[in-house]
Amino acid sequence: MPDLTPVLDKDAIARRVDEVARQISSDYRDGDLVLIGVLKGAFVFMADLMRRLDLDRVAVDFVRLASYGCASDSCGQIALVSTFEIDIQGKDVLIVEDILDTGLTMAFLKQHLNTFNPKSVKACVLIDKQERRKVDVRAEYVCHQVKEGFLVGYGLDYAEAYRHLPGIFHLNI
Ligand code: IMP
Ligand code: MG
Repeated sequence: MPDLTPVLDKDAIARRVDEVARQISSDYRDGDLVLIGVLKGAFVFMADLMRRLDLDRVAVDFVRLASYGCASDSCGQIALVSTFEIDIQGKDVLIVEDILDTGLTMAFLKQHLNTFNPKSVKACVLIDKQERRKVDVRAEYVCHQVKEGFLVGYGLDYAEAYRHLPGIFHLNI
């Protein structure tokens, strides 16, 4: 049985989601915002974040990505498994992602979204793990920095387990 070490409890997560949502609401108050969530990991975060936005117009869509080319997650070639449907031309796009790790996924997605001529493309991540970064990419909004380890809970999985946990844990395999 793998053991789980608590990293962030649900109140700590909610407090930061609230603060970041307030910042986003202020930054995009005059814009036409489209949230693009990255499935599956970001769906819990996205649901909480969007309900805390104090904006008149927010559209929501999703992409699903996969990485190929090596055994573990977060390396190799990134490919779209399913894509968004909303017209993002001239709109402010905010990527909503669970974890920024090597940066390969985020770099791919920012570049891909920019080909649709949006007004802007920025990113909001629940967790920024900087130790394994391979490409120079950043998220403009970060809820939490975590130094190392594999995380589960609050939407994050290990082989489809643990997504349902309300807090975030280190998984010690
Ligand atoms: P990147 O391309 O290496 O930045 O990978 C980011 C993706 O890898 C995230 O969207 C997650 O799906 C996955 N990932 C990276 N680290 C973790 C983790 O600690 N727990 C769960 N998923 C992770
Ligand atoms: Mg992900």
